[in-house]
Amino acid sequence: MANVPSLYKQFEDYFKIGAAINKRTMHHSKDTILKHFNSITAENEMKFENLHPKEDEYTFSISDEMVSFAEQNDIGVRGHTLVWHNQTSDWLFKKDGKDIDSSTLDQRMKSHIDTVLDRYKGKMYAWDVVNEVVLDEKEPFLRPSKWLDILGEEFIEKAFIYAHEADPNAQLFYNDYNESAPIKSEKIYQLVKGLKEKEIPVHGIGMQAHWNIVDPQLDDIKRAIEKYASLDVRIHVTEMDVSMYDFEDRRTDLTEPDSKMVELQAQRYEQFFKIFKEYHKHIDSVTLWGVADNYTWLDNFPVRNRKNWPMLFDENHEPKEAFWRIVHL
Ligand code: GLA
Repeated sequence: MANVPSLYKQFEDYFKIGAAINKRTMHHSKDTILKHFNSITAENEMKFENLHPKEDEYTFSISDEMVSFAEQNDIGVRGHTLVWHNQTSDWLFKKDGKDIDSSTLDQRMKSHIDTVLDRYKGKMYAWDVVNEVVLDEKEPFLRPSKWLDILGEEFIEKAFIYAHEADPNAQLFYNDYNESAPIKSEKIYQLVKGLKEKEIPVHGIGMQAHWNIVDPQLDDIKRAIEKYASLDVRIHVTEMDVSMYDFEDRRTDLTEPDSKMVELQAQRYEQFFKIFKEYHKHIDSVTLWGVADNYTWLDNFPVRNRKNWPMLFDENHEPKEAFWRIVHL
């Protein structure tokens, strides 16, 4: 890898370059992480169900390990995620087999946020406080969830208020996918605008950027960035990958991408990073949702057991065509 430039150093004047890691890749992909990334996000290890499996039990060992790995190597950490409809422990919404009332959930949410943020105070440069509460369709505005059922729509602002009280220096984010689609981006904009008008401490919008070789359109991405930036919040690209398959493409027979896919992916990465550079005054970090093609959640989504190659490094951690295009921008 000696002649390969460091990805994060290449973008040092613009934004951090992050990777989502897990307990295996933290060790197996250590060299690639240290050379190319200066921010990490825990892929699953800081989600509610992983950190807080029972009301009186927290399991911090893996996330602690990630945070010290980052500290030792001078890497920033994005905390992910506090309030979400997925990967949240079932006990949270129940007591003695019945749904709990709003004040119990309020107090449980506060206690989770306090405990987690307090543990990592000063060690995270940002937290995804609320994840994916806006629906893709025009109506209804908010996604149905236990949070919404029990606490009403105030659960969103309460989460930010509690997070800010627990760690007043952390940058607090609203994070979502399909963040560039016209209807969804307008809704995300309205949600955050409403919070800002009420002086709720929200400091940024996370654009997940689970993109592919066809979608989204570049103009939609630019429009979304401009819209979000107009709210005077910071922007993080939080979960980027560029799937080799169009979302409708459900083929399962490819053992490697064809040359057309490889070229399209390289072009797309180049165009995306051009946009990030163009808007770098608003963007503080760009995180890839993985390290290299040897491990990606897209191998099981939206089709199970189908290989995908969405990252900038191949299965042997060698830089791909997409990598060279973006470092030569
Ligand atoms: C969402 C979540 C992430 C992750 C991805 C799929 O985008 O925010 O934590 O679960 O889905 O891996």
